Amino acid sequence: MSLWSRHKIFETNSIILIIGVLFVIAIGGLVEIVPLFYLKSTIEKVDGVRPYTPLELAGRNIYVREGCYNCHSQMVRPLRDEVERYGHYSLAAESMYDRPFQWGSKRTGPDLARVGNKYSDDWHRDHLNDPRAVVPGSIMPSYPWLEAKELDARGVADDMKVQAILGAPYSPEMIARAETDVRIQSNADDPNVADLTKRYPNAQARNFDNNPRKVTEADALIAYLQMLGTQVDFKLYDNKANVR
Ligand code: HEC
Repeated sequence: MSLWSRHKIFETNSIILIIGVLFVIAIGGLVEIVPLFYLKSTIEKVDGVRPYTPLELAGRNIYVREGCYNCHSQMVRPLRDEVERYGHYSLAAESMYDRPFQWGSKRTGPDLARVGNKYSDDWHRDHLNDPRAVVPGSIMPSYPWLEAKELDARGVADDMKVQAILGAPYSPEMIARAETDVRIQSNADDPNVADLTKRYPNAQARNFDNNPRKVTEADALIAYLQMLGTQVDFKLYDNKANVR
């Protein structure tokens, strides 16, 4: 019996064919899945990556609520054109506290993974209010209510509790201080800013929406945007001597 006539057994019997297909797929699956049970983590630890401050976390929730991910990705791929346009390609660790992740798959607008510190706070406020005011011809929708609406920070502590269950290293103290930390971070003159940055290294604290009277949703969203992509100091990694 030649090899080809043996193959006829599969081709003429659908049940045997199905079993054969499942067997072959199972090999591929096992090769990919089994090693994951032996690895402690698939994410390399990277210096500088910290969980979000309560204000940033609130801003992130607004980002999700408003559906910004429908037009913006947050992942710079390791391709030359992307790296030249946006900066260093994204590392897995940079989204390790993103649940759900915001990598996205649609780029009607530019990638936002490295947008932090690219523009001023005022630029972001004007842009969110009316994108056409700062980028003529922009097709991004306006979000004028963010600047008007006071941030409801009551749920942030609960949100942090859930993130902690999922593995974000929020201590009970951080969770208990969530609402206070929201207020501290949105006011550069607050005497407790140094205390905040002890808990959240390199957190930027200031009045993001330039309205000292209240903490608004714009404060939270801009705090989040200004932090994106700024946690890892890539100068350390680009210098070969520091590669570990
Ligand atoms: C309908 C698609 C769409 C949605 C939804 C959208 N954007 Fe945009 N966004 C764009 C486009 C297009 C641009 C490029 C033109 C511009 O700068 O306005 C842009 C630009 C930006 C930029 C400037 C990026 C850069 O590097 O220049 C930021 C920041 C931004 N968007 C934030 C947001 C946020 C935050 C939200 C949600 C509140 C959002 N966008 C929702 C389409 C969108």
